[in-house]
Amino acid sequence: MPAGRAADILTGIEPTVLHERTSTMICVCIGRGRHKHTIAEHRYLAEQGVQLVELRVDYIRTRLSLKRLLADRPCPCIITCRRQQDGGQWSDNEDARQMVLRTAIVEGADYIDLEEDIAGGIPRYGKTKRIISYHNFRDTPDDLYEIHQRMCKLDPDIVKLATLTHRPSDNVRMLRLVKDAQVPTIGICMGEIGTPTRILGGKFGAPFTYAAFHPDRTLAPGQVGYTQMRDIYRYDSIGPDTEVYGVIADPVAQSMNPLLHNVAFGEACLNKVFVPFRVPRDELAEFIRECPELDIKGLAVEIPHKDDVLKHLSKADGIVRNIGAANTILFEGREVVGYNTDFRGFQDAMDTVFHEEERGRPLVGRVALVLGAGGISKAIAHSLKRRDADVVLASRTHERALVLADKLRCRTVQWYERTKIEPDILVNATPLGMHPNVDESPIDAKYLRRGMIVIETVYNPEQTLLIKTAREVGCRVVTGIEVAVRNAAMQFEHFTGQPGPVELMRTALKRAIGPAKWNE
Ligand SMILES: NC(=O)c1ccc[n+]([C@@H]2O[C@H](COP(=O)([O-])OP(=O)(O)OC[C@H]3O[C@@H](n4cnc5c(N)ncnc54)[C@H](OP(=O)(O)O)[C@@H]3O)[C@@H](O)[C@H]2O)c1
Repeated sequence: MPAGRAADILTGIEPTVLHERTSTMICVCIGRGRHKHTIAEHRYLAEQGVQLVELRVDYIRTRLSLKRLLADRPCPCIITCRRQQDGGQWSDNEDARQMVLRTAIVEGADYIDLEEDIAGGIPRYGKTKRIISYHNFRDTPDDLYEIHQRMCKLDPDIVKLATLTHRPSDNVRMLRLVKDAQVPTIGICMGEIGTPTRILGGKFGAPFTYAAFHPDRTLAPGQVGYTQMRDIYRYDSIGPDTEVYGVIADPVAQSMNPLLHNVAFGEACLNKVFVPFRVPRDELAEFIRECPELDIKGLAVEIPHKDDVLKHLSKADGIVRNIGAANTILFEGREVVGYNTDFRGFQDAMDTVFHEEERGRPLVGRVALVLGAGGISKAIAHSLKRRDADVVLASRTHERALVLADKLRCRTVQWYERTKIEPDILVNATPLGMHPNVDESPIDAKYLRRGMIVIETVYNPEQTLLIKTAREVGCRVVTGIEVAVRNAAMQFEHFTGQPGPVELMRTALKRAIGPAKWNE
């Protein structure tokens, strides 16, 4: 059993007892130019409860003293001295590098990282455990299993493969390898597409995962910050039975869904993790096909997949069929079921400005101007139309507005004529006003009227220029955060069967877009 073996190796204590704890360990990488800083970070991490660190001695810029780094170390460490061809900083010659590695073994390092091509020439000695590693900064090769087999012959305690990926299907191959391996194996696909392999390693039996000291100081592409791995993904609670959820988008880094859903899963003590999956448009079909192998139970769907995902659904609710877009999918046995919470999320957020008796009621006779004709506008315009509002669409690219208006049987105006409409409800469904362009607004203050309902979809910042000016004029406003958290709460309900924690999600999102970012 790979995970059991890992427990044995990492602690020397009975494997069955420590299976859960040890296979969910985070190893934090330290790459500093000076001994003083390396030692200080090592100490700090140990105080934070970190059980293993990797000291990247190739980063040390002064005369290297392994004795100094290893003396009185506050928690076990891996000594790694990476050459430049493997993504390292080592600038001296290869003989000197191998001498460093041999010295680290003699000095009693807990682990030593030996690349596949040199491991055969450096024998096991003392108590130092051997991590045999393979790096590939071009791609994830087809013959992963053959490479792994070769590495297993080099007397490893742990095998580590780190390969650059351009396709989500590499993640599946890599994690399959980790799961099947007889020797404890860490399989990492590098790059943003590969981030799921870092988060899900423990589920598939990897002895530990690597994380960065700080998200701004990653030592490998796609590396996640330590506190994010611990507090957002709750890596230490991920095990073989953890159910996987996630968001598919391209790009995916800006998505707040991992934060909102992981916070909510954690609060509800659910054995579920929510992972960012960067899926390029032309990889969607294969990704959906492979979801069961990663134990994926549900997905939030973002740009550019909301329309295309329909082709892969076996069932969809009426709203999805009407709108022609899904933002949530569930894997239920053999069925792939689509939902659209953008629609209800918007309705609920809009209803917050109405008195109780008006909530959910028709909007007959009210003009609703929707700015933008993209993904979210579709759900918003449908929502307003279903409430019998007189919907008018304006989009920078007028053709997009025409296509949507044709489907909905509503009006359009040219973008430059949007100020000629005097709406009762104004919705900004463009990115205008979004960070960092906070001085932009989709409409000038002089066109806002007291009592008008102004609904924003941009949530970073929450107080966009549009929201600020609308408040000054005396409009009734709904911020993008209110739309976003209601949307996420409804997705949470689909994923768990429990009501989504709107309050908790709101607090998490506000904190995340404040000065302290969620990934720090
Ligand atoms: N609060 C939430 O829950 C939530 C959820 C999803 C999205 N959003 C926000 O909603 C906004 C739109 O998202 P989406 O998914 O609909 O995006 P999208 O599909 O890319 O559509 C964006 C729309 O905005 C228009 N646009 C873009 N830049 C513009 C500019 N500089 N001036 C005028 N119009 C511009 C686009 O026009 P062209 O066709 O000419 O490019 C298009 O009509 C984003 O800002 C996003 O942050 C919020």
